[in-house]
Amino acid sequence: MATAVLTGRLLLVAVLLLVLAGAAAAVPQGPDDSPAAMGRDGLAATPPMGWNSWNAFGCDIDEAKIRGVADALVASGMRDAGYRYLVVDDCWFDPRRGPDGQLRAAPDRFPGGIPALVRYVHERGLRFGIYLSPATRTCAQYAGDYPGATGSRGHEVQDAGTIAAWGADYLKYDWCSPSGDLGDLVAGFRLMRDALRATGRPIVYSINANSHQDANPGETHDWSGLANLSRTTQDITAAWHTGLRGAGCLGISDIIEVNAALAARAGPGHWNDPDMLEIGVPGTEGLPGLTPAEARTHLGMWAMMAAPLIAGNDVRSMDAATRDLLTNRDVIAVDQDRLGRQGRRIRGTDVQVWVRPLVEGVAVAVYNRGDATADMAATTAEVGLPPARGYLVRDAWSGRQWTSTGALTAAVGAHDTALLVVRPLP
Ligand code: GLA
Repeated sequence: MATAVLTGRLLLVAVLLLVLAGAAAAVPQGPDDSPAAMGRDGLAATPPMGWNSWNAFGCDIDEAKIRGVADALVASGMRDAGYRYLVVDDCWFDPRRGPDGQLRAAPDRFPGGIPALVRYVHERGLRFGIYLSPATRTCAQYAGDYPGATGSRGHEVQDAGTIAAWGADYLKYDWCSPSGDLGDLVAGFRLMRDALRATGRPIVYSINANSHQDANPGETHDWSGLANLSRTTQDITAAWHTGLRGAGCLGISDIIEVNAALAARAGPGHWNDPDMLEIGVPGTEGLPGLTPAEARTHLGMWAMMAAPLIAGNDVRSMDAATRDLLTNRDVIAVDQDRLGRQGRRIRGTDVQVWVRPLVEGVAVAVYNRGDATADMAATTAEVGLPPARGYLVRDAWSGRQWTSTGALTAAVGAHDTALLVVRPLP
């Protein structure tokens, strides 16, 4: 009798569970905004590397320049060092959409059309990126520097289809409007993420939520489930320090301070983007540009922060020092380490010690933000390495190697960064 009652109860529970499971399946699922979903397709498994037209050329772009850049990326060894995505930024489009609403290239600037340019780029072993805005105007249009209002609002699916059909491999999607609350921004960026996925073409998705948004939503909100890379600050400029944050361009030391706090968001498929490189870009508006030490800090700290490395200089005319810095293989290897962890500051204010765990060992940076040369001493235990009979230490700038029993020391000039890759000896 007792057994019969128990069996009856078990049956009832089973039926209830089945009903509940059915009800759960019937509830429509919300969008999957998890960072894990962003990384699932393997896109941007390491931070994307490439070149973008904005820092060197601004709005002044055309087909001949971009082809010249493609050739120079190959001839200079940049492509083979990893700089694969050639991204055409703002001002490439016809200010008016076609009669069917389709985006078109500006006929005076790109008379051959985008598909031919994409073929040119692909034939050189590079990938092609392009720029759009989720609002009604791109940033140059909003600023009045370029005519028209060709933003993608209301055209998301059409525009994703257009750039996919043209063969684009990367989209930079830039908010460019003071209007919209956080919910609008999330919805706008999600629409394009999903429209790109629906094309079936692997297209790296790079977003900027900050442009014309003084509250810096790119910093205050976590976008890691919405895009492969998301801008954390306002625009960079070729300067060490501007002291500006929400209302103007930042220098590289300003950006490092903001980006340092956001390490937990970064991982394979979703990276913090502290903006494109200013190495080899002359200063503007009375700013002096970067000294060689500051340029080293720029590349070294971007590598420590697992940042996308998107060169912004005119690679057609760069000098040997700029090329050698940008193509430093040890530093690029740190940036591209497949563990995909953004480095963290473990101590310091003016002289900071940073650690980035690698698949094998760690990268240690001593970043001297101050104005005087500094000596730094750390230990392998402090940077998280396990006890070992010794450690192989490699200076990423010079390639010099030595062994240590646990002490790590460096003398670092003002605004410079020492970058050591440290591995336990087997
Ligand atoms: C914004 C972006 C820049 C660049 C310009 C183009 O300022 O942050 O990187 O794309 O727009 O107008």
